[in-house]
Amino acid sequence: MSQGPSDVTNTVASLESHTPLRYGQPQQHAQEQSQQAPLTKESKWLEIYSPSRTPATKRFNTTDFLLDEGQVLGEGSFAKVMLGTHLPTGKKVAVKVIDKQSIPENMRSYACCEPAVLSQLKHPNIVKLLHHDEDSRYIYIFLQFMEGGDLHSYVEQRKWLEEKDCKKIFSQILDAVCYCHQKNVCHRDLKLENILVANTQVGNKKEVRAILIDFGFAGLMSPNHKFEDYPGSVCYAAPELISGIPYDGSKVDIYALGVTLYTMLHGCYPYYHENKNKMYNMILKKELEVDAALTHECADLLARMMHKNVDRRITIQQIKEHPWMKDCYSGSFVFSPVISPAAQKLKQTAMRLSPAKLKESLSPARAKANAQQRDANANVSPARKLRF
Ligand SMILES: Nc1ncnc2c1ncn2[C@@H]1O[C@H](COP(=O)(O)OP(=O)(O)O)[C@@H](O)[C@H]1O
Ligand SMILES: [Mg+2]
Repeated sequence: MSQGPSDVTNTVASLESHTPLRYGQPQQHAQEQSQQAPLTKESKWLEIYSPSRTPATKRFNTTDFLLDEGQVLGEGSFAKVMLGTHLPTGKKVAVKVIDKQSIPENMRSYACCEPAVLSQLKHPNIVKLLHHDEDSRYIYIFLQFMEGGDLHSYVEQRKWLEEKDCKKIFSQILDAVCYCHQKNVCHRDLKLENILVANTQVGNKKEVRAILIDFGFAGLMSPNHKFEDYPGSVCYAAPELISGIPYDGSKVDIYALGVTLYTMLHGCYPYYHENKNKMYNMILKKELEVDAALTHECADLLARMMHKNVDRRITIQQIKEHPWMKDCYSGSFVFSPVISPAAQKLKQTAMRLSPAKLKESLSPARAKANAQQRDANANVSPARKLRF
């Protein structure tokens, strides 16, 4: 690891007052520049950030980055994410600055694992790690900057998203999570705030692009291994996490993906109460209620992803083969036309459950409220009250 900034006090002051933080001497950098072969800014960027093409020695230097004044992209309990610039190319970057001193002793190990995990992951829907560094007080994680903001704000602005829009975003995140699981990494903090979205130009069309961030709670999985630490956000926590029993990391990711999809569709969490204990109870015992306006396939997928019985919860492969995912699958996964026995079974179950049956499964009070609301305003679905 390269040496971090020598003046830690200066760094702290820079972060707090949002004055630009520059590592090293600018003159040095200018000298290095003049000795290099002429490259366009774009090709230089591509050369340094493509790990498969570039020897480790030619990758990023901490001294090449500058934090932009006052540009905070987001803030968590222990980290501040700031906008920065890669000076040789002028490219914008996101710099996650983690204050080691503010992390409680029992959580220190999480802070160090994020760059280590990210360095193993290369996927179009996972944020790219460019570089990392640390000094005695801070860890600096230099990341690909994603313009557009997080999915939480995106949903908040729009109140809720239509199924077809959710599908575009969800399929990309599913791809990313599937890839992580193949690499034996579980995320353990999947939620709207940890998904960034941006509109990108694809040919003549604008397409929404989603990327997964924040691998601060990621865990390394191995066969038959069960985790016994309980990170993440309560609203997205699977029942086995609430119960505090040893758990399978991939299964809690699937449950959290279910909550993510639910929240995109409804604009509110599936189980929410200001009183934490009541909320725990809801997660453990309360039957899932979905908006009656959802298609049967969508409601079916939500119920399977958020199954309280971990052994009966759907697998990632089954999600990919689920009827709701059929017509819009983006990303690197190519949908297989051969229906596996598992998918066939799912299809049969789905056909047995008519949409009317599914509506019956909603609590009578909810079903009545839904019907009244629908009559009152045909365009507004009842469960879609924003409640973040
Ligand atoms: N690469 C990025 N590009 C743009 N914004 C980002 C980026 N990474 C993080 N953010 C913003 O900062 C917020 C916090 O980042 P995150 O990595 O989730 O930190 P924390 O561990 O504190 O939750 C995100 O919700 C997002 O709004
Ligand atoms: Mg986060």
